[in-house]
Amino acid sequence: EKGGYASFMLKEIAEQPKAVTDTLLGRIDPEGTLHLDEVRITRGELREVDKVVIVACGTAFHAGMIAKYAIEHWTRIPCETELASEFRYRDPILDPHTLVVAISQSGETMDTLMALRHAREQGAKVLAICNTNGSTIPRESDAVLYTHAGPEVAVASTKAFLTQLVACYLVALYLGQVRGTKWGDEIRTVIRQLSEISGSVDRVLETMGPVRELARSLAGHDTVLFLGRHVGYPVALEGALKLKELAYMHAEGFAAGELKHGPIALIEDGLPVVVVVPSPAGRSVLHGKIVSNIQEIRARGALTVVIAEEGDDEVVPYADHLIRVPATPTLLQPLVATVPLQVFACELATARGNEVDQPRNLAKSVTVE
Ligand code: F6R
Repeated sequence: EKGGYASFMLKEIAEQPKAVTDTLLGRIDPEGTLHLDEVRITRGELREVDKVVIVACGTAFHAGMIAKYAIEHWTRIPCETELASEFRYRDPILDPHTLVVAISQSGETMDTLMALRHAREQGAKVLAICNTNGSTIPRESDAVLYTHAGPEVAVASTKAFLTQLVACYLVALYLGQVRGTKWGDEIRTVIRQLSEISGSVDRVLETMGPVRELARSLAGHDTVLFLGRHVGYPVALEGALKLKELAYMHAEGFAAGELKHGPIALIEDGLPVVVVVPSPAGRSVLHGKIVSNIQEIRARGALTVVIAEEGDDEVVPYADHLIRVPATPTLLQPLVATVPLQVFACELATARGNEVDQPRNLAKSVTVE
């Protein structure tokens, strides 16, 4: 059933372009308008939303962190993303104008379920983003937007994550479309770009040979750090989580802007640091800042692994290893930038002799708090 792949994880990584396409299927019409009528929250109700709260755990939480950037940018509705396990127990402020988005691959994660029950008790509307038909979380929500990743067998989430991102973008763009914002033109453009993004994911997958080789060469290290800014920050967290759970290595993700506030003290000779570089086009502030961050860590001996867009030449002098991803609109970049990190973790774990589909101590669905 692994279809010729050495593991379910590798198979599921390879299935991502299709999973992304399937999640978009039937939801964008030829004119570039979104149709999410399946989401049984009325347009009127969506127009009245004055706050969005996203709750999730683990990898799904990272998708939610990225969604916050997209929702606030395209809709101008304040959005917070919180770990479900923290949200539930801090007496959050919710009312009928709050839209709570619960993201879960399995639909059975207890912390996420408890968070959404609490939200509904406070009168908030809950929209589930879920990959498992008929599971508990969508059944207990007001509405559901299913991801169509297909069954995910490997414990570490890959294709479910990419489709969660797609669903989050759809929710953000749909809210923007329904409510009408000054970003109307941009929203239409991005919907079109999103509908073509699976080709870019495919291209990333075709160029993973050097990433595998690099991963194998780092198998003897104890620590790998990950840096990112903006939506690259949750991507860095996701890269670190994958490496922890699969390779059992010390891996940490940081917002690159935090370097000087502590983490830079960790940099020493030969320490591998993976840096997710935002798109250079038209966003020189973010890009320039991360280029200086790379210079700073390299001056202190870090072995820099730089993930940057094709055509971004500015980073070349500071990259010990350069991983190219296709040029992508800033907010959508996680769809391509995460893929090399999945491959990296999978290959590194294999090189260390670990069983990638069933990492120690972990279960595919966490049904206890
Ligand atoms: C990491 C991973 C976990 C899950 C988390 C939430 O690779 O798979 O962190 O993302 O346990 O699970 P779901 O999405 O089923 O609620």
